[in-house]
Amino acid sequence: MMTQTDERYKSDARYKMVEKTMKKLNYDRSALIETLHTAQETFGYLENETLKFVARRLKLPYSKVYGVATFYHFFRLKPKGKHTVVVCMGTACYIKGADKILAKMEEKFGIKAGETTKDNLLSLLSARCVGSCSLAPIAIYDNKPIGNLELEQSINEAKELLND
Ligand code: FES
Repeated sequence: MMTQTDERYKSDARYKMVEKTMKKLNYDRSALIETLHTAQETFGYLENETLKFVARRLKLPYSKVYGVATFYHFFRLKPKGKHTVVVCMGTACYIKGADKILAKMEEKFGIKAGETTKDNLLSLLSARCVGSCSLAPIAIYDNKPIGNLELEQSINEAKELLND
């Protein structure tokens, strides 16, 4: 029986990107680190849900996947902000002005990509490609992708999150 979570995996382009890496490596358990790299580049960080997904698909215990994700300094677990905005900085998005969007967000909220506001309400991150290049430029607001993003709109969407 297909669960709601399975549905999300199927419909979320980011999971498809991670799946592609695992498939390329024949779902071998030794593919764990490379898979986590792809996941971080795609999501901007590693959240529990993603670690669980990887554990299931590679048939590894969650504790093992979590252990590897926390052991290596180059992996970043979900940042502490109540809300997260991930701006895609992949080629397709970059060409369409993602750098300006990121710069505007940094200026507006007084933080750099990878940082969280002092009140812990917003973490700003960048990703390499979130798998929806036809919607470039795109950013993910608390797991909700918003494509064809305009500069002002990028700020307004973040403000809306903060007003939740
Ligand atoms: S480059 Fe942004 S979605 Fe692919």
